[in-house]
Amino acid sequence: MIVAIANQKGGVGKTTTAINLASALAMRGHQSLLIDLDPQANSTLSFVERNGLKRSIYDAIEDSSCKLDDVVIPALNQENLWVAPARISLAKLEARLIGELDAHFRLKDRITSLGDRFSHVVIDCPPTLGLLTVNALVAATHLLIPIQSSYFALEGTDDLLETIEKVRSRANTHLQILGVLITMHDRRTSLARDIKHQIQKVFGAKVFDTIISKNVRLEESPAYRESIFSFAPDSTGAADYYRLCEEVIDRA
Ligand SMILES: Nc1ncnc2c1ncn2[C@@H]1O[C@H](COP(=O)(O)OP(=O)(O)O)[C@@H](O)[C@H]1O
Ligand SMILES: [Mg+2]
Repeated sequence: MIVAIANQKGGVGKTTTAINLASALAMRGHQSLLIDLDPQANSTLSFVERNGLKRSIYDAIEDSSCKLDDVVIPALNQENLWVAPARISLAKLEARLIGELDAHFRLKDRITSLGDRFSHVVIDCPPTLGLLTVNALVAATHLLIPIQSSYFALEGTDDLLETIEKVRSRANTHLQILGVLITMHDRRTSLARDIKHQIQKVFGAKVFDTIISKNVRLEESPAYRESIFSFAPDSTGAADYYRLCEEVIDRA
């Protein structure tokens, strides 16, 4: 399965979800690949040493003589997990691909050429609906949409759904919405409960039963460059993401 984690809003929990879902899948013994498609490279930094990086996902997409295999490196401190790292250079990729007839299909083609090396691929998308995110949607079998439990939670989802429909109509007719994930939920407040009901009204059964609570440990873990499972295995954040992983496997 190839699951894209997308929402063009920043700060909704895409990277946190990508890191910890990929990590949970790897812990269950699945050969997993985390592809970082965000020029900010936040998920890369959780698992690899930035200084030693020679090549990144940019090279694999832009340069036809560079294979995805050539940029994939094993994650630090995590068995069964590999990372296709991003660097800030990824920000110039969209401009480089203008006029290329296969611009939307680059990532898909590169993943296909990996064969069956990985059973699970997780793609962390940038906070835009541009060519990078479209590449992820074209390459993916499944889409996971994190939505932050906040007053403006649903703002922008129309644009996201429109993009998904465009991709489905031609480039990737099999793309499935695996689920909508409510993140940073504070179950103590009535506002959060209202927001949850609102999201459930719009997305119905697509909303995951698992809800990711607001958790300080999840906020801290990237700074220590660890997944929540090694950083704070007894935290509610670890329990939430473990349950999400089980639900993802059940739904796929
Ligand atoms: N469940 C959570 N509880 C507390 N903080 C969180 C949680 N999920 C994410 N964060 C923090 O919120 C910020 C934005 O999350 P991030 O995953 O980077 O979002 P995105 O990738 O969508 O921009 C980060 O500082 C992250 O550590
Ligand atoms: Mg991010």
